[in-house]
Amino acid sequence: TNRTFTMLKPDSVEKGYIGAILEKINASGFRIVAMKLTQMTTTDAQAFYAVHKERPFFGELVEYMTRGPIVAAILEKDNAVEDFRTLIGATNPADAAEGTIRKLYAASIGENAVHGSDSDENAAIEGAFHFSGREMF
Ligand code: GTP
Ligand code: MG
Repeated sequence: TNRTFTMLKPDSVEKGYIGAILEKINASGFRIVAMKLTQMTTTDAQAFYAVHKERPFFGELVEYMTRGPIVAAILEKDNAVEDFRTLIGATNPADAAEGTIRKLYAASIGENAVHGSDSDENAAIEGAFHFSGREMF
């Protein structure tokens, strides 16, 4: 068993998709270990996506991720990181497989509904960014 970190991004919250997306996450065998509604500050988002800071879309990405609340969560399952990336689908919803969360709920590459950690190491770093030990179950 291992863990991944996810965010239901501001567009998902704005559109009322929290319930539907959590339903799909549960139905796919992930256990929720930690979860909350929170909002990233500009400093938070710049740090979280620092790997993309030289990319042309960085400013847009930070604006998007800070414009409203997100649902942050830690999820547990065997092979959590890879299986969750499969469940969410490609970064651009136009390329995402049928039935994936981004295919179903994302509008565009810039507003793509959900985040999923890309490695076990990043999952641990991102989870600790949002949750204290007392908030993980
Ligand atoms: P995350 O799970 O959010 O990290 O997405 P990802 O791993 O599928 O993609 P990546 O880490 O490469 O990019 C991070 C985020 O930047 C994406 O999820 C998008 O929200 C945004 N992004 C990536 N490429 C583009 C782009 O070409 N244009 C815009 N506007 N946003 C982009
Ligand atoms: Mg990424």
